[in-house]
Amino acid sequence: QLAYVAGRLVPLRDAHVHVEDRGLQFADALYEVAAVMNGRMLDWDGHLTRLRRGCAALFIEFSMSDAALLAQAQRLVAVNGHRDALLYMQLSRGTARRDHGFPLHARPTLVMTVRRFDFAQRIGQQARGVGVITVNDMRWQRVDLKTTGLLANVLAKQDARAAGAFEGWLVSADGDVREGGSTNAYIVRDGTIITHPLSAHILPGIARATLLRLARDAQITVVERPFTLDEALAADEALLTSTTAPLLPVVTIDGRPVGDGAPGPVAARLAALVWDEIA
Ligand code: PDD
Repeated sequence: QLAYVAGRLVPLRDAHVHVEDRGLQFADALYEVAAVMNGRMLDWDGHLTRLRRGCAALFIEFSMSDAALLAQAQRLVAVNGHRDALLYMQLSRGTARRDHGFPLHARPTLVMTVRRFDFAQRIGQQARGVGVITVNDMRWQRVDLKTTGLLANVLAKQDARAAGAFEGWLVSADGDVREGGSTNAYIVRDGTIITHPLSAHILPGIARATLLRLARDAQITVVERPFTLDEALAADEALLTSTTAPLLPVVTIDGRPVGDGAPGPVAARLAALVWDEIA
């Protein structure tokens, strides 16, 4: 297993960043997780665009060209020999003596790892549906930026795991369901898909963009507006998406059934469209 660390391929066990890397000390770093299916990188442009947008918003001066970044990512996937995998990319502001303000001379640190991932496991989960629990959204106010500051997400996921659930849904003080710890969230009401609009309060998911495009192309109505936990509990169906879980029906929320507590017809139809597109 090889990893990419600041320009070099190194054995994963020797793949280290400096103790004064700002990613480590301040979570002053962006990341992306991209899927590789049948040796093909999915939605690369979407991931790249989101990373570049994050760099611009955080003033991280990342000078590598799009072509060079893609070439390095593809090389890492190829040398590891995976057909189905997740590529993790992390870009920090760089290494410098600890000081909150930006360093004058640091160069961004890019690291990438890749691991085998069995997307087929999602098919079984899709057939059964998954449960979610709800937690307060206590993240900062720019979660549209994909930074590595994920402690609130980690705690939400751990609460979910402890409860035997797949995901923790992050609910605002007003009772709006924003998204999951690492997934976007949707409900279905009378055949219409409802999902939180893009804003500083959710991550603009790549799988979300794909799902909404496919749904609209199939003449399924999509409404991007906040929805409350009460609405979710009264919905016909609920769903989640991410790069690692392209579409999963949510069949319970805090242990209470959504609809009749089984995956519904809209989820099934969307899942077929999504797998048709990516597999
Ligand atoms: N998570 N919302 C949050 C908070 C996320 O962390 C993610 C992705 C998503 C879905 O985004 P996308 O469709 O681009 O994967 C939504 C990645 C997979 C992770 O942290 O592992």
